[in-house]
Amino acid sequence: MTTDRNLLARRMFEGISDTYDWPAQLLSLGQYGRWRRCAVDRLQVTDDALVLDVATGTGLVARDLVSRRGARVIGLDLTFAMLDRARGSNIALVSGRAEQLPFPDASFDGIVFTYLLRYVNDAAATLDELVRVLRPGGAMASVEFGIPTNGVARAGWSIYAMHLLPLASSVISPGWKEVGRFLGPSIMSFNESFPPPVLEHLWSGAGMQDVRMRRLTFGAGVVTWGTKVNAR
Ligand SMILES: C[S@@+](CC[C@H](N)C(=O)[O-])C[C@H]1O[C@@H](n2cnc3c(N)ncnc32)[C@H](O)[C@@H]1O
Repeated sequence: MTTDRNLLARRMFEGISDTYDWPAQLLSLGQYGRWRRCAVDRLQVTDDALVLDVATGTGLVARDLVSRRGARVIGLDLTFAMLDRARGSNIALVSGRAEQLPFPDASFDGIVFTYLLRYVNDAAATLDELVRVLRPGGAMASVEFGIPTNGVARAGWSIYAMHLLPLASSVISPGWKEVGRFLGPSIMSFNESFPPPVLEHLWSGAGMQDVRMRRLTFGAGVVTWGTKVNAR
């Protein structure tokens, strides 16, 4: 069942699908690619593993998985316009929702998802669903936006996210103007409910073990990875 948040995400990403990659890199002050590569490099899979990239968007993570890890990748997203931009690369693309994946249990050796959990109604249930399609012993890695804990860095982050980002985004396009206004408050509200220790707890609760986290750029990016508990 499509939710109100699914509709919001689809509308917002339809508005920026034409120009996604370079503004994302620019507005993250050059950090977007670095965070993504950190998650891809932490995914503990062998060459030729079958990996699902959930919320693949224009396929940036999926392409890194192919080029850096030699993985076979399926990219899934709920915004058709974003998937259209991912076409032409060596990735199979599927339209779908993270909350209800169109795959049988234990289908994948690895799963990656980036900037997804702010767009779902129930983060714990969505994590359960992601882990369902991962084989026992398989690996999962993600990136979410975080907020710096250090006082000075946090003040700088607030000024940037709440004031400069909306201003800079509004120059790019009307679609980016909406995203620029949405992002700061959305990241703050997500981090109030799911600060990194709570996220780590959710991963364990969903059946992941050896869960590790790395905070990048003073904590503005949070990379999480782990492996699925083996069946006993
Ligand atoms: C910020 S973009 C990230 C795209 C890509 N992962 C990257 O790192 O460049 C977020 C993507 O999540 C997708 N999305 C949001 N909610 C989703 C859901 N419930 N299921 C699948 N995709 C979703 C959006 O359509 C959008 O393409």
